[in-house]
Amino acid sequence: MTRRFKSIVILTGAGISAESGLGTFRDKDGLWTKYDLNEVATPEGFARNPELVHDFYNARRRNLVEASCNAAHVALAELEQKFDGDVLLVTQNVDDLHERAGSARLMHMHGELLKIRCEACGSVLAWREDLDLATTCPACAITGRLRPHVVWFGEMPLYMEAIYDALALCDLFVSIGTSGQVYPAAGFVADVRRRGLAHTVELNLDPSDGFSLFAEKIYGPATQVVPTFVERLLSV
Ligand code: OAD
Repeated sequence: MTRRFKSIVILTGAGISAESGLGTFRDKDGLWTKYDLNEVATPEGFARNPELVHDFYNARRRNLVEASCNAAHVALAELEQKFDGDVLLVTQNVDDLHERAGSARLMHMHGELLKIRCEACGSVLAWREDLDLATTCPACAITGRLRPHVVWFGEMPLYMEAIYDALALCDLFVSIGTSGQVYPAAGFVADVRRRGLAHTVELNLDPSDGFSLFAEKIYGPATQVVPTFVERLLSV
């Protein structure tokens, strides 16, 4: 890869935050091996048992508040700051570790764990505490209608129009730390390839479900492979 790129779209998933101590979903001991995603990550699950869903996200929020960004997050922030061209980071992660590392051009397509949303008034608010059915919305003062500002299965991911616009223009698409099992993100590489203009690279611990669609693959822990890859991009 010696080509000089102008416009990069980077997709990240849970694997980039694994070495920060945040669990992935589908690996051995992943969150979806311990919890039923239909119970804790769907609107129907929340309607059936909101306490269980709040407990699940409260535990994840506490874990996130204690965590720190790692060398892979830092390398991507450095890329955004130093690259002579456009860099858009699209993350499936609900953590804020990219922001803490310094990334600014970032879209959280699955929402943000440190935000809550009021289903009564629609307000989206920054939130670092536990949430339960007794919590009152600071915006409208209604109690019991707050939920995590995360996208659940069956709900529409966020920023899709802007993301597809960026994918249509990019000349490099990089996927980092995602198993490629959840759409629409899992379909981005095929969308980019269909145009035939962009280079595609997968960085992951193991080959993802869509690995064969990537022109270049680099396997290893994100804290090792991402900084090396960024260094290569910045040296061209
Ligand atoms: P997954 O748990 O499905 O996949 C994580 C990927 O990261 C796997 O392919 C691992 O091999 C890889 N991985 C693990 N440790 C790594 C490391 N140290 N360095 C690099 N890679 C590593 O997580 P996602 O693909 O992000 O959505 O999952 C996608 C969506 O499914 C999530 O956003 C979430 C989940 O259900 C919702 O909750 C809506």
